[in-house]
Amino acid sequence: MAARTGRRPLHLNAFLMGVGHHEAAWRLPGVDPAAALDVHHYVALARTAERGLMDSVFFADSPALVGDVGRRPAGTLDPTLLLAAMALATERIGLVATASTSYDEPWNLARRFASLDHLSGGRAGWNVVTTATLDAARNFGLDALPAHRDRYERAEEVVEVATALWDSWDDDAVLADQAAGVWGDATKVHPPEHVGRHFRVAGPLNLPRSPQGRPVLVQAGSSQDGRAFAARHAEAVFTAQQTLAEAQDFCADVKDRARRLGRDPEHVVVLPGIVPVLGSTEAEARALERELDELIRPEHARDQLARTLRLAPEDLALDRPLPADLPAEDEIEGAKSRYTLIVSLARRERLTVRELIGRLGGGRGHHTVVGTPEQVAGTMLAWADAGAADGFNVMPPVLPAGLEVFVEEVVPLLQARGRFRTAYAGTTLRDHLGLPRPAVDRARGRQERVTA
Ligand SMILES: Cc1cc2nc3c(=O)[nH]c(=O)nc-3n(C[C@H](O)[C@H](O)[C@H](O)COP(=O)(O)O)c2cc1C
Repeated sequence: MAARTGRRPLHLNAFLMGVGHHEAAWRLPGVDPAAALDVHHYVALARTAERGLMDSVFFADSPALVGDVGRRPAGTLDPTLLLAAMALATERIGLVATASTSYDEPWNLARRFASLDHLSGGRAGWNVVTTATLDAARNFGLDALPAHRDRYERAEEVVEVATALWDSWDDDAVLADQAAGVWGDATKVHPPEHVGRHFRVAGPLNLPRSPQGRPVLVQAGSSQDGRAFAARHAEAVFTAQQTLAEAQDFCADVKDRARRLGRDPEHVVVLPGIVPVLGSTEAEARALERELDELIRPEHARDQLARTLRLAPEDLALDRPLPADLPAEDEIEGAKSRYTLIVSLARRERLTVRELIGRLGGGRGHHTVVGTPEQVAGTMLAWADAGAADGFNVMPPVLPAGLEVFVEEVVPLLQARGRFRTAYAGTTLRDHLGLPRPAVDRARGRQERVTA
């Protein structure tokens, strides 16, 4: 679909999380708290996103129990298994799952995402995270969180090995010649024989090359190390940005870094998070926001905030601002950019802890727009036209209702302005994102090892 305005069409990912991104969504009348563990809930969400012609659906994940069970639905199904079920119930919607490079082996990761790409006909994406929590580290025999820099260094090698495994079969290695009795051409299967600092992986992968060649690589870290990693590897970048100016800086920086590495910046699709709190009037939307925020239990949310800021809960008085002497970002080994975002939001807007909890309760620091479909569509186009985004990571505060309203009310407005597809042009996630299908590249691994 050619955008009539000459401005590029937006890309839209549906970030699915239980019964909604607002931490109190499960308490809203009419919401089924049990849906968070029900595969049918997610299949219906995937169908809604596909009906809205969105690029993909996405699941975050961490190999640990996130948050406390007293506060919100805490269990999370394995996202790749969930996406496999959703793949059978859909035809075009992209399927992006998170998996950690810190607590899994590259061979297993390569196989899992290549399998998802095969069984979905080329719709798989992998959100590559290093997992920034002590809770997860303790599930893998560690007493301390590995250092930020070391997590990213390991992630580099994991992606290098996974890519070499995805490229270990030539695209035409499978002959399936029944008459000749030859299924595959062994000369077109090449074990990477990787020997690196963290891994020794002979390969090849036990799967022919998948429909997309390689699943789409997504990344979500915004620190200096995160941006460098994104510039080298990411084809789509998720980010949390509170203001237009910060989002513009981030988008320009990541694309510039990629350009300097010889990559096409158009092939690094930047998708800031947006939490659309929708109403048919702004007043109605504000009423929904108020109703949700009043359901937050501040004492619970304060404990979570204290963990993120590396403080004791009692250091955070609800009706006072954050303590003045907080650690600098350099001292944070967890999620650096999120830490900085939260602290600068509180400082910039002079928020009390209670007000900050309200702001974070809805979207954990992502940009929130409370208003009519026109206001949400207007903000999205304003950010995109200001060079702050190629599209958005849409985070409905309440599910399924928030996604249904977005698809029925906001998508048509974007289409009417020629800024969103009116039909899928292709079948793969790469087609939707405007990304090329990568050719087999065996020099790549070796090249990176040489320059490392
Ligand atoms: C939209 C989005 C989704 C994310 N999903 C996950 C996730 O599923 N699992 C996870 O461990 N971290 C997730 N993160 C956190 C990032 O992986 C990363 O830890 C964080 O952005 C801090 O990165 P930095 O230390 O490089 O700044 C997500 C971040 C964003 C913006």
